[in-house]
Amino acid sequence: MKLQKNEIAAYLSGADDSGLYDKARFTCNAVFGSEIYLRGIIEFSNVCSKHCRYCGLRPENTAVQRYRLSESQIIHVAGLLPELGIGTVVLQSGDDPYYSKEMVGSIVREIKLRYDLAVTLSLGDRSRDEYAFWKDCGADRYLLKAEIFDTRMHALHRPGELISERCHRIYQLKALGYETGSGIIVGLPDSTIESLAEDLMQLTAMELHMIAAGPFIPHPNTPLCDAIPGNKDLSLRSLAVLRLMNPDANIPATSALGVNDPFGRIRGLEVGANVIMPSITPESVRKLYEIYPDKNVVKDDVTSVINHLKEDIKTAGYQPSSSKGFSPKYQIQLRSVLLDKTQT
Ligand code: 5AD
Ligand code: SF4
Repeated sequence: MKLQKNEIAAYLSGADDSGLYDKARFTCNAVFGSEIYLRGIIEFSNVCSKHCRYCGLRPENTAVQRYRLSESQIIHVAGLLPELGIGTVVLQSGDDPYYSKEMVGSIVREIKLRYDLAVTLSLGDRSRDEYAFWKDCGADRYLLKAEIFDTRMHALHRPGELISERCHRIYQLKALGYETGSGIIVGLPDSTIESLAEDLMQLTAMELHMIAAGPFIPHPNTPLCDAIPGNKDLSLRSLAVLRLMNPDANIPATSALGVNDPFGRIRGLEVGANVIMPSITPESVRKLYEIYPDKNVVKDDVTSVINHLKEDIKTAGYQPSSSKGFSPKYQIQLRSVLLDKTQT
């Protein structure tokens, strides 16, 4: 569905929440039925070289104890997923150059060889050569969030970074054949309904296969410690608008929706999300991946976390899916590329 900027802004202002949510839920259901795709995230390093002013992992936060998982630890944890009924592993870290092109390549190759899993990488800004190599090693997807599109606000909140370069990388990933995801943080300081509407339009114009929008949560050890938190309703409206404009993209109910609200992510499913990405980071380090406060507070072992989540999904009337969960948007593009190849 095409929406004009003023229509998006009206929805974001709360002009018609029940109409918006009904339409988003109906659209999602028409494409995905009641299936919810699960992705197990391994947050394998909390070391980061970037300086995002909103994030607890920035190197200036010396209060955080840093960790790095070894190749064999990462591969071992990924191996828990098939028996938990999850078809995708997401390997996520800060921008940590310690993991070389070859190391990441061998982790991806090993996981693809040993397990029937889709592999998503979320390692931040790397060279085209590295992205291409990892694709050849078998990586299926890459997540690289734009975070905020406005040129000035991007430079303000991500010192030293340019939105134009971030977008260039996202297009590079798409061109390399990755199922490509991006997203934004809702409610960063200085953002407005207008700028948020613009963000949603820009994400849509990029024709992404996965799109995320989660609320900003201030972290006490960052320059934005005293900032006003992102509004959860505004995040839900953003998610619903994204669903209307991108019917066949995968859209997660972000973990940030679940902070201080055990059913926050389920609420996300009710307004158009079709993906949940639980952390399966080992308990010994899980709490240290503190991008924002209370991100990984769950104390249970991984199996109980996943089983509880599946129960919550079923109770809400949805069906947790063990499939790899490629988006229809990606599958259609892939098919046309293959057709082109066979016809030439
Ligand atoms: N609040 C909400 N989301 C955040 N992220 C980082 N810091 C915060 C915060 N304070 C998100 C960014 C990043 C992802 C890993 O977490 O979108 O890409
Ligand atoms: Fe690093 Fe990502 Fe945090 Fe920015 S948001 S400081 S790139 S971990």
